[in-house]
Amino acid sequence: MLKKNILFVCLGNICRSPAGEGIARVLCQDLDSIGKIDSAGLGDWHIGHPPHKTMRRVAAERGFPIDDLKARIVVPEDFNAFDFILAMDQNNLKHLLEMQNRVGGKAQVRMLYDDKTSVPDPYYGPEEGFYESFDIINRGVTLFLRSFSQ
Ligand code: 4NP
Repeated sequence: MLKKNILFVCLGNICRSPAGEGIARVLCQDLDSIGKIDSAGLGDWHIGHPPHKTMRRVAAERGFPIDDLKARIVVPEDFNAFDFILAMDQNNLKHLLEMQNRVGGKAQVRMLYDDKTSVPDPYYGPEEGFYESFDIINRGVTLFLRSFSQ
């Protein structure tokens, strides 16, 4: 079976998309249909940084540690290297589609959720927002992966 590669994308690659990557790499352990899992951001402010401290703590508490991850920016090669590029919100989706218009590539660029639910950006908000976003991402990744195991 051809394995599918998945890239999670948000704005800074320090809150939402590393959470998606951290959840997916655990949930995919028994899925033969999934290949590479990664995450990236559309902004360059945090390149090389680990995920946000609060998101690292929330992810570890939920059983998906992400301390090892490092932020990077989306690059043109991603649109061919990945089969699915999953945006966390509508703004991320818009920018990814604009980028794909310029660079091409086989990747299916879409929202994490089929119904286009956006994952709120917890960066500027209180700690509760990190839990809320993490749980929305966890459910979204679970639903997305379910479509591969049926
Ligand atoms: P993320 O959150 O897109 O979920 O990683 C953000 C992180 C940093 C910034 C914005 C959003 N920022 O402006 O630095």
